[in-house]
Amino acid sequence: MPFKKDFLWGGATAANQCEGAYLEAGKGLSVSDILTLGSHKEPRKIALDMDDTYCYPAKKAIDFYHHYKEDIALFAEMGFNVYRFSIAWTRIFPNGDDEIPNEEGLKFYDRVFEELKKYNIEPLVTISHNEMPLNILKKYHGWPNKKVINLYVKYCEVLFNRYKNDVTYWLPFNEINNLMLPLSNIIHGGIYLEGTQDFNNQKDDPNLRFNALNNVLIASAKAVKLGKEINPNFKFGSMICHITLYPRTCHPDDIFLVHQNDLVRNCMCSDVMLKGEYPFYAWNFFEKNHIHINLNDEEKRILKEGTCDFYSFSYYQSICESCQSFDEKTSGNIMGGVRNPYLKLTEWDWPIDPVGLRYTLNKVYDRYRVPVFISENGLGAVDHLENGKVHDPYRIAYLRDHIQEMEKAVEDGVDLFGYTPWGCIDLVSVSTGEMKKRYGFIYVDVDDFGNGSYKRYQKDSFYWYKKVIASNGENLD
Ligand code: BG6
Repeated sequence: MPFKKDFLWGGATAANQCEGAYLEAGKGLSVSDILTLGSHKEPRKIALDMDDTYCYPAKKAIDFYHHYKEDIALFAEMGFNVYRFSIAWTRIFPNGDDEIPNEEGLKFYDRVFEELKKYNIEPLVTISHNEMPLNILKKYHGWPNKKVINLYVKYCEVLFNRYKNDVTYWLPFNEINNLMLPLSNIIHGGIYLEGTQDFNNQKDDPNLRFNALNNVLIASAKAVKLGKEINPNFKFGSMICHITLYPRTCHPDDIFLVHQNDLVRNCMCSDVMLKGEYPFYAWNFFEKNHIHINLNDEEKRILKEGTCDFYSFSYYQSICESCQSFDEKTSGNIMGGVRNPYLKLTEWDWPIDPVGLRYTLNKVYDRYRVPVFISENGLGAVDHLENGKVHDPYRIAYLRDHIQEMEKAVEDGVDLFGYTPWGCIDLVSVSTGEMKKRYGFIYVDVDDFGNGSYKRYQKDSFYWYKKVIASNGENLD
């Protein structure tokens, strides 16, 4: 049996994509609440003042806030022993700089933890998943401002004290390395530059963006250090958006291009989080790009002291890159690339590459030698509900192929301890704001505009994943 006896099988969600109840029980607005509905062809807009002419999918999402009991019961029915979800920063500190936390917000998560405990489901908590209070963006201009470090650490302190007996596994930030790209200015950095309208095409100041990332890394290390003081049994993980890179040709220039881009985009943040300092190539990259990182000796010491215990990452696809120009391009959750002629694409043009997952698992385990957790993976597709049923063989095929490669990676010797496929229940897409791009084992009857009964239905993949979990990954039929 390749997987460990206590392997963690479950699924992942994020508050802003599933909870809804966007102003309920004292919650404040977050940077995701102000994103409008878009599509694969029409980019989402950033509407700082929430103009009524647009539709804002996060307002109601799938209304997990009012359905959490039913949803967790369905997770339990599938056999989950782990559930990854995020706590909405704005439920706890509605403005981000409030004196005292919002008790009503904390009470909601008390109830979620209680429900999980009932079914022996281990929580894996993302502390910040695109849910920065909008007030921090407006008043402090986001993560480039060092004051935000302590606002975040204060929020963490509240969570660590309140949930010290409920949680073992924490992820300080979702896909921390996304700030490598301008697309993440708003939802990861809280950075809004005048003139920005489209989510996909944001104004950018790389110096500001990389300083924001630097402050996020310092905040993460501070949180790890503080968490371990509050409960030495806490385990902290990185959460890297791993876009696996391949050279499009075997020309040595392509090989070196990919080597360098892989280091900067995929490895730099996890090197800091797991090794406690910026690697040599980071300083070289900053210098070449005229980026001046504001990092003092005290902060360097914090990075050293607050390293993580495990490596976690999201994996959806690989992309190709080349020094030569190629016409055929593909999309992805954070970036696209040159098309790989050997891979099929999803309906949203994301390449499907299960072997890339085995390759990535081997790569990251070799680099860090700490336990590895796959915190996101999955297929976004259009599903059809007919007579209460959803037949989704495409999703089963995608997941089966990826789990098979996970098995091979474990046989290769990788210490893999858990898997939480993304959007275990249908939720709002980040890149487009659509509902029709579905990842779930559970279908939620709601359309892109929030119309529907919000009723939950088990898809065919629900029953398939249940068998996978019950057999600890043996039965993939
Ligand atoms: C990851 C994010 O980048 O990709 C998730 O952590 C997101 O929040 C997921 O939902 C899938 O992307 P999308 O655009 O299909 O929602």
